[in-house]
Amino acid sequence: MVKKYLLFMVQTHLNFRLAELESLADLFGVKTVDFSKYDEGSPFFIVELENDAQARAWISRSILTRGIYEYWGQGTTYEELHREIQANPLFKQFKAEYRNSTFKFEFDSFGGSSSGKLDRVACIESFKYLEFQGKIRMKNPDQVFTVIEEYEPLSDNVAGEKALRMFFGREVQKSDRLCGALEKYDLKKRPYKGTTSFEAELSLVSANIAQVKPGTVMYDPFAGTGSFLVAGGHYKALVIGSDIDGRMIRGKGSQTIKANFKRYGESLQFLDVVTMDFTHNALRSDFLIDTILCDPPYGIRESIKVLGARDPERFVGKEDVEIDGKKAYLHRDYIPTKKPYSLDALLDDLLQFASQRLPLNGRLAFWMPVANDENIETVIPLHANLELKYNCVQEFNKWSRRLLVYVNRGDGFQGPTNAGLERSKANFRDRYFSGFN
Ligand SMILES: C[S@@+](CC[C@H](N)C(=O)[O-])C[C@H]1O[C@@H](n2cnc3c(N)ncnc32)[C@H](O)[C@@H]1O
Repeated sequence: MVKKYLLFMVQTHLNFRLAELESLADLFGVKTVDFSKYDEGSPFFIVELENDAQARAWISRSILTRGIYEYWGQGTTYEELHREIQANPLFKQFKAEYRNSTFKFEFDSFGGSSSGKLDRVACIESFKYLEFQGKIRMKNPDQVFTVIEEYEPLSDNVAGEKALRMFFGREVQKSDRLCGALEKYDLKKRPYKGTTSFEAELSLVSANIAQVKPGTVMYDPFAGTGSFLVAGGHYKALVIGSDIDGRMIRGKGSQTIKANFKRYGESLQFLDVVTMDFTHNALRSDFLIDTILCDPPYGIRESIKVLGARDPERFVGKEDVEIDGKKAYLHRDYIPTKKPYSLDALLDDLLQFASQRLPLNGRLAFWMPVANDENIETVIPLHANLELKYNCVQEFNKWSRRLLVYVNRGDGFQGPTNAGLERSKANFRDRYFSGFN
């Protein structure tokens, strides 16, 4: 038998919210949710689930949700709320089940602040028909009962005055967001970071949409300072990263990617990072990679380079140069030549690599920035064996970036492809630095 639950979500990154909920539901085998009832304009979503265990599994990792509650009722006034709770077909069962539990009441709100307006003691008194006999315990009670009020905010920063709706339920699971994930991974407090580091909130959301799984291998081929490795490690994957720029990989003194993992108490999740050109990939072909999550170079703060010579003629006959009786390229401090490479070709390589290395249904997720020009069409890279599952947009003023998420469907799937095509007509770096004018 299914039961009703209330999801209370954050009203930001709406483009990513549904993708995160669907991906986590799929990951944890939650099949009873009717996503056709999901409303992007509302922070609330009433769903049907088999039991609390499902609700916990589904929401404990969510970043764009606040919590999930066993649904007892809702109303546009408190009188209506109380009537609805008592009319709930499960009311008698609920009452009997929690009669002797220790408990407390909590208050939450959307779009307004109930503190000051709501007399909380009187409000709690108004629930006396629940006839709870257990002790009130503020610390570690058996159950937390929550009143959530919805206000219409007067503007982005001004709280509304009048509650439009109120919900009542039993807390089943607070989300990862409410359990402190954003504070823990806040870049401001991270020992090793750089100009390319990706903010905590959306890197964790990316790992959820990519369905990073505990005990599996996640690879970031453009690891930089390791922001996505940290997100993958948080969800208990074993993470490995590579980057062509050894300085990023090595860090400075005690500021390293490894030190970040140590700080977070997650050293066990960190496999390693290596300096390597992605297009000359040295990971053994039988090394299993379950998920790929990354932020490829777009030439804004870092250049797109691969191993090779811009002008190969210059090196003819110099391959065998020796220093101190040893081939120059065998010295530890040898710096190989690099040449510029196109973003289109790099993304083609990334999709091809994912199609060859991911297991069936494994996910590739990466970020792609685009200029918001009306007359330039955004062409999303496609590979015949990869199904494009999500294309989530984060808008900035004159540009946006997208999280593209693909599922490896294998040779049996023949979707559209645009490999080898020139997709990005205008160089994003040039457009970025000219202010998109
Ligand atoms: C947008 S940054 C990624 C930043 C990273 N997410 C972080 O947390 O710092 C892109 C990275 O790709 C690296 N890169 C550029 N060309 C590469 C190549 N051919 N192979 C591997 N890495 C490359 C750059 O050195 C840069 O660190």
